[in-house]
Amino acid sequence: MDHSNYVIDEMISAKTIAARVESLATEISTYFKGTDKLIVVGLLRGSFVFIADLVRELDLPVEVDFLEASSYGNSTESSREVRILKDLRGEIEGRDILVVEDIIDTGHTMTHVLHLLQSRNPARLKVCALLDKPSRREADVTADWIGFEIPDEFVVGYGIDYAQRNRNLPYIGKVRFTS
Ligand code: IMP
Ligand code: MG
Repeated sequence: MDHSNYVIDEMISAKTIAARVESLATEISTYFKGTDKLIVVGLLRGSFVFIADLVRELDLPVEVDFLEASSYGNSTESSREVRILKDLRGEIEGRDILVVEDIIDTGHTMTHVLHLLQSRNPARLKVCALLDKPSRREADVTADWIGFEIPDEFVVGYGIDYAQRNRNLPYIGKVRFTS
């Protein structure tokens, strides 16, 4: 695999992300105040860093579960076809659910996931996305909490990959192709 034909330009620093995660957690803790039935559902794999930081800032009792939906493969093109590759371990009926996603892009993934989870009759079903690219939207979906709205750029870092690489960058950067 040739990974040499691009560079990554920092877009959102680790410090800026940390401050935003803290304020999102405050808002979410206020919204769900008093709940004893919250499950934070991370969408694999891109949300793993974000969910780890977010749950540690929540002032609530939480359970954590994960769901994996199919995504791009090793390309930057979105696929409209969404499949569930790994389902939740637990039941969600009557529970408060916070879905945590890395990026809402076309919106097809989130639309599909919300439809699936809603069919299992949770009490409340809310969404927190770290990044939102509203200019790319094809499906009518919005997150209840958004970390940062970004332009139509391909980004990596803080859990987000390009061809499975760069998830370990502490900041979010945009991919700039050099050839
Ligand atoms: P959607 O179904 O088009 O909204 O796609 C959402 C998923 O596509 C995200 O969860 C990411 O996994 C992936 N994705 C969207 N934009 C980017 C990007 O800029 N970099 C890396 N992955 C992305
Ligand atoms: Mg994803």
